[in-house]
Amino acid sequence: MQKNCIILASGNGSNALNLINKFYMSKTGSGLVNISAVVSNIEGAPVIGKVKKNSPDIPIFTIPFTSLSERKLFESALENIIEKYKIKYIILAGFMKILSKEFVSKFPYKIINIHPSLLPAFKGRDAIKNAFEYGVKYTGVTVHYVTQEVDAGPIICQEIVKIEDSDTVESLEAKVHKAEHKIYPVAIEIALTDGNPQC
Ligand code: GRF
Repeated sequence: MQKNCIILASGNGSNALNLINKFYMSKTGSGLVNISAVVSNIEGAPVIGKVKKNSPDIPIFTIPFTSLSERKLFESALENIIEKYKIKYIILAGFMKILSKEFVSKFPYKIINIHPSLLPAFKGRDAIKNAFEYGVKYTGVTVHYVTQEVDAGPIICQEIVKIEDSDTVESLEAKVHKAEHKIYPVAIEIALTDGNPQC
């Protein structure tokens, strides 16, 4: 049975678009995932224009949330959208804000995030740059459930990215994004598949 999902994104939107193209436009997935709406917390974020151009019929909402004081209003507006569209899963795709513990606890195993490192290494912002500067030889991408502790929820999927001596931060970023676009749709289908104990 199809499960309605909402995408939350703050920035560039390459993951959001990739998921939309996989599950919404070309419907090449298993038919399990339905992208019902996109929400951005940033007025004018590139993701908004890109989604509108790519898929004009996907409802897209901007709910301001740049400072902590706006979080409560953001979450309550988001809950209204979740109810209206009968959303079962919340997919974070470059959503750069931390959801409250109260909000997260209402949706156990229903919020999914992608992080550009092999967690638990390099949690938080600038994970790609931090891995590069640390000098690790392998980094990667992690898709995980969101829990109250940031970047620490149960892992659904990981993909390894090798750092070559010739890499720069920019080339590594490109490799990590490529890996993200490969594994995020796969991980989401795994997470939503009936029979998955967390489903
Ligand atoms: C990705 O690297 C993702 O792992 C991280 O934020 C970035 C978003 O990129 N959470 P984009 O906006 O999807 O292009």
